[in-house]
Amino acid sequence: MAQILDGLKVSKEIKEEIRIDVDKIVQHNRRPPHLVAILVGKNGASMTYVNNKIKDCKEVGFKSSLIDFPSTVSEAELLEKIDELNKSKEVDGFIVQLPLPKQIDQEKIIMAIDPRKDVDGFHPENFGKMALEMDTFLPATPFGILTLLERYHIDTKGKHCVVIGRSRIVGKPMSILMGRKDFPGNSTVTLTHSYTPHIEEFTKKADIIITALGDPNFLKADMIKEGAIIIDVGITRVEDQSEKGYKLVGDVDFESCKEKASWITPVPGGVGPMTRAMLMKNTILAYKTSVY
Ligand code: GUN
Repeated sequence: MAQILDGLKVSKEIKEEIRIDVDKIVQHNRRPPHLVAILVGKNGASMTYVNNKIKDCKEVGFKSSLIDFPSTVSEAELLEKIDELNKSKEVDGFIVQLPLPKQIDQEKIIMAIDPRKDVDGFHPENFGKMALEMDTFLPATPFGILTLLERYHIDTKGKHCVVIGRSRIVGKPMSILMGRKDFPGNSTVTLTHSYTPHIEEFTKKADIIITALGDPNFLKADMIKEGAIIIDVGITRVEDQSEKGYKLVGDVDFESCKEKASWITPVPGGVGPMTRAMLMKNTILAYKTSVY
């Protein structure tokens, strides 16, 4: 029976550490860190994510601002706002919530963010630094997974880690980070994706599996080996009869996999809260390293 990697508990510890840090800053008569979130349109999941980020800021004592644009906003308007935030001495970090509407070139938007304020770690300069093991902002979800493994003292050295999904936000950076020389890392990594035939041939051999697919209950017990460590990044909204009208379902068939795995993350309460905590961590890092 697997032990639970309790992301909710660890995220609370991290946020408490940050709150104590912010208290000290404010006691020294300095302004608190300030995170700005840009939201475009009314995508339900994005609205929830952004509202949660604002809530987290309040919890740790940061200043936060939410800038929302209608889904019809032009690329030029968005770029103008980014330029303003890049220049502002009152803003330490900002994020542009993805995905963006079709008329907007996502790469162009990410490229416009000052890498020193890119607390999502999405800018190619930061991605490159991450890959080269230089100090930078790590993307929040992979950073959260690494921190969770670290806080549970899980040894990743020499382990075979299979990552499922190659997104710029999770799969791709995760595959790089697990192979880095710093702890937790030093794994041998296989990055699988939609063109990988017979994924189970890889997952059955894996010591660590990180799924970031968005395919509810994809990973079944017969696809993993005894004692595997299972990290579930998937959070798909599946309609149900509850008040909300949906429930969150991970990529991992938790009920069957928990009988076979050694460690497993739940959904909800696993990777999600860790992602949120790491954005706060990146924001205070941006504050501390800024010139203002
Ligand atoms: N969309 C889904 N996850 C994220 C995230 O971590 N940051 C941003 N900006 N958009 C997202």
